[in-house]
Amino acid sequence: MNPTFLIAKKRDGGELTDGEIADLVRGYVAGEVADYQMSAFTMAVCCRGMSIAETASITEHMLHSGVTLEWPGSDKPEVDKHSTGGIGDKVSLPLAAMLACCGLRVPMISGRGLGATGGTLDKLESIPGFQTNLPLDEMRRVVDQVGCVINGATKELVPADRMLYALRDVTATIESIPLITASIMSKKLAEGLDALVLDVKHGSGAFMKTLDDAQKLARSMVDTGKRMGVPTVAVITDMNQPLGRLAGNAVEVDESLALLEGRGPDDLVEVTLALGAELLVMTGQANDLASATTALQATIDDGLAMEKFAEMVRAQGGDLDAVRPVAPAQPLLAGTAGYVTRIDTQEIGRAIIELGGGRRRKEDVLDLSVGVEMLVRLGDQVQVDQPLANVLAAPDAADLAKQMLRSAIEVSESPTSVPPLIVERVE
Ligand code: URA
Repeated sequence: MNPTFLIAKKRDGGELTDGEIADLVRGYVAGEVADYQMSAFTMAVCCRGMSIAETASITEHMLHSGVTLEWPGSDKPEVDKHSTGGIGDKVSLPLAAMLACCGLRVPMISGRGLGATGGTLDKLESIPGFQTNLPLDEMRRVVDQVGCVINGATKELVPADRMLYALRDVTATIESIPLITASIMSKKLAEGLDALVLDVKHGSGAFMKTLDDAQKLARSMVDTGKRMGVPTVAVITDMNQPLGRLAGNAVEVDESLALLEGRGPDDLVEVTLALGAELLVMTGQANDLASATTALQATIDDGLAMEKFAEMVRAQGGDLDAVRPVAPAQPLLAGTAGYVTRIDTQEIGRAIIELGGGRRRKEDVLDLSVGVEMLVRLGDQVQVDQPLANVLAAPDAADLAKQMLRSAIEVSESPTSVPPLIVERVE
């Protein structure tokens, strides 16, 4: 195989065969295809797209680049939820624990920050000692013992996604329906699931800016899941403003804990319950979405989900009582009175990267203490000098991020309509 020929074939709009895609994925994992060749290939895919057959083929070869999990003897359904990524999207943290409290097992393989969006693994690593690279046996042990685990792809488990994910993050090659499908579905199909729910985000902070593209991505992933024998439902949700109030790493753990203590922001609670309810219904743990929602809410009200989360953190080596770093707040004040009519949510994610909370290069070490606290939401009326947001950073490091936030939050004279948070289900 000569990778250059395959890159050129995709660049020129050709359709790769299953064998060619197998060679590329295998060659990349084996170190025979260089990073620069794979990034040229992923860029060609971003520009030219992939057919349904190519998408199926890359997903399957990524899935089989490593071992897959099986759960012989398990008497409970294995389930998971995955989001296509957003700003402030911390749903995975509380939801894993809530689902485990409802009698499901959650062997979650998550990712790091991608583009302007935050990553579950980076957030969890702000908990001192928390391990996100557990070997397979250990991952299985935590699922058996606790009922949920949140771990990264490893050298054994979907290594192709582990490598491609890090590469796409820093080469502007994320926004592609086939590549997102292959990345998410290879990870999820490797988990040996009985049911999967996908949170497909659309809007200014999502990889899919339009509802139309989000619908196409949802369809591509749901069809892939079903074809591979895993009942899959997608819920399309809004990402035209950050989810919850806090975005960053350590601060998102704080907000997840707040949710588990019954103090979560309404939008975060709504999305978390909606996604979890789908899984309870799909696995027959609840008869309908309403009773599933009640069961999930009860895990918060009776404190069991908080206990379960703490148990998972301990089992993964973390210490929830140890201090998590949070940088000081630098307020951004409104320059004019009016209504918040638009939030460029991706720009908020970029401001966090600017502060050191996300990567520009694969090897970057993150500052997990920085972030943004949103003090307004779309549609809010604001007065001059009212704080719109806090940049969480040292005072001398906050200037550029503040400027970015100022241009990201638009205040206009007249109000506009606020988009619905939960848009539709795709099954
Ligand atoms: N999440 C993933 O795991 N992969 C993508 O490509 C995008 C979001």
